[in-house]
Amino acid sequence: MDAGAPLDPRAQIAATVGPPLWLLAEITYRCPLHCAFCYNPTDFAATNDELGTDDWLRVLREARAAGSVQCAFSGGEPLLRDDLAVLVAEARRLGFYTNLLTSGVGLTEARASALKAAGLDHIQLSFQDSTRELNDFLSHTRTFDLKQRVAATIKANGWPMVMNCVIHRLNIDYIENIIDMAVELGAEYLELANSQYYSWALLNRDHLLPSREQIERAERITNERRRRYGERIRIFFVVPDYYETRPKKCMNGWGSVFLTVTPDGTALPCHTAKMLPGMSFPNVRGMGVREIWYDSPGFNRFRGDGWMQEPCRTCPEKEKDRGGCRCQAYLLAGDAAAVDPVCDKSPAHRKVLEAVERAQRPDVCAVREMPLIFRGPAESKRLI
Ligand code: FES
Repeated sequence: MDAGAPLDPRAQIAATVGPPLWLLAEITYRCPLHCAFCYNPTDFAATNDELGTDDWLRVLREARAAGSVQCAFSGGEPLLRDDLAVLVAEARRLGFYTNLLTSGVGLTEARASALKAAGLDHIQLSFQDSTRELNDFLSHTRTFDLKQRVAATIKANGWPMVMNCVIHRLNIDYIENIIDMAVELGAEYLELANSQYYSWALLNRDHLLPSREQIERAERITNERRRRYGERIRIFFVVPDYYETRPKKCMNGWGSVFLTVTPDGTALPCHTAKMLPGMSFPNVRGMGVREIWYDSPGFNRFRGDGWMQEPCRTCPEKEKDRGGCRCQAYLLAGDAAAVDPVCDKSPAHRKVLEAVERAQRPDVCAVREMPLIFRGPAESKRLI
């Protein structure tokens, strides 16, 4: 080969882009819960042709061959798929580290044994709150007692337990109880992830965005509890983007680490990217994972910095945050290639400030006349 010849575009991408280390297998959008902050697309009811077992087994093999090392089975509720243990077993055989992200609904003793035998490494169990009333209200189901039983099943099977609780205005004032409950249930890790405002959470933002005062109190209490519990539990507290002045490096950078495959086989650089207008994303039914990752226009669209506009293009921090989140840029600024409006250099930053300002107002905090919109097939069909 001529050493001075320029690399062809494919070789250039392969030279600069690492493998899709993290595979998120969203194996179904079906879910028995109806969470008002669900990150699944609001039009999920339009997806009704789920990939079959053989397709998923092929995706796992192709992803592993392309360099994926971690596989999370998610949904919807992944336990609604009868073939979950088959998929987990194949993922483990291939050498993946395997996670199950679940509400706990369907994790009976028998399913737990089957997943243990399949080699499942780790379970993340979601709670909505530390009280039955609020947990069941927020998920619009009676699942609080079941989740307590499932937590015991997880411990009895020797899995490390990550508890996840999405935090928002309606439960943030009870954060001490949520942490204490996680310790009592024996969780090794607790993720207190403030809701991010996409999909269903965006529809309900006026109900869910906490005030600054609430966030400051919650952080203070979380730090107190960290000191109290020491090594017994690791607690992660994720502040909502809206209270930052620099955006997060969403997905660690578009097309750099994360590969999401949705229930119908659409491959995405993040779980909400399908809504971005003017973009097309490949489907694993028609294209192999390696080709999707390195060659498809959707995955290449926001790699590098050629796509960046000002102020990102000349920003000294552009490698640190990669311009923030493409989905948030589209949702708040109307342009997926704009700087994420969370950044205070963004011309659309006032939209974030307005939302934060609304969250401080007592009249908006009591939006009784505007009901919460709970995730569900009927609502989703209405929103298509
Ligand atoms: Fe899609 Fe951030 S959620 S890029």
